[in-house]
Amino acid sequence: MHKIIIDSDPGVDDAVAIFLALASPEIELVGITTVAGNVGLDRVHNNAKRLLALVKRPDIPLVKGCSHPIMTKCSNHTDVHGEDGLAGIPLPESNYPEHSGHAVDFIIDTVMSNPGEITLCPIAPLTNIAIAMIKEPRLADNIKDIVLMGGAAFTQGNVTPAAEFNFYVDPHAAHIVFENAHHVTMLGLDVTTKADIRSGLCNSLEKQGHIAQITAAMSRKYAEFDPFLHDPCVIAYLIQPEIFSSVEGNIYIECGSKTLFGHSLVTNSTKNKVTKPKCTIVTDVDSSKLMPLIAERIGTLG
Ligand code: RIB
Ligand code: CA
Repeated sequence: MHKIIIDSDPGVDDAVAIFLALASPEIELVGITTVAGNVGLDRVHNNAKRLLALVKRPDIPLVKGCSHPIMTKCSNHTDVHGEDGLAGIPLPESNYPEHSGHAVDFIIDTVMSNPGEITLCPIAPLTNIAIAMIKEPRLADNIKDIVLMGGAAFTQGNVTPAAEFNFYVDPHAAHIVFENAHHVTMLGLDVTTKADIRSGLCNSLEKQGHIAQITAAMSRKYAEFDPFLHDPCVIAYLIQPEIFSSVEGNIYIECGSKTLFGHSLVTNSTKNKVTKPKCTIVTDVDSSKLMPLIAERIGTLG
């Protein structure tokens, strides 16, 4: 059983990741935190509220986080996810009560009260995670693992040739996380661009229940601009790690260069000395197993 916190910026692929987690008995979703990313924080948070209302899960703590990156200006991905962040697919508003407090404190309190048990699953810019590490220096010692979607180790970025969106939006946060964490499992574009919606996912989803059909509608629209379901790869990795391939290394996040801003450089040495790798870099997946897994699990949500 994986006890996880998903840190997200819904976002269509975030929505699929959240549904996949809720549909998987291997996962205990301890909470969802939100952060500015695909769209602004208020809209991201309201999207998360509507997603939980759709699946009738008011029991899942949903906590609002940072409204903008640590040093860069706010970006967005409305070109891919639409102005509303969920591809314009109408979802009923949620009347679930708001969780008080800030996402950074929820992450700290949850990890510190469950030492060694919580896996953080950031699928958005890493602002909340970085601030939590700064606010609670003991956090890294008490996290079970960080399994994140972000970066591009051996392939091109999707915002610039050098940088992937989550790291590009807040590279300073990504730097803090990779520097402070004892271990990170990174699912970057190397592997997430194998999660191709066009392989028949929507046809499978449309044969199933209401949630699956809404997921198909969001995914079809989203796929017009980005055919890859990046974020669900994080959850699928926890559920069936055996369908994924990885290498070990260290990741350096470029924050100084204009052209390489947000780049995730794979390096096994710092200051000319070889350092013990602390990053599992996921590089490939058997998509013939991944996409049916997503369809089948989400189909169980009704
Ligand atoms: O580059 C893909 C990432 O950026 C995903 O997390 C997607 O939701 C966007 O946030
Ligand atoms: Ca995301």
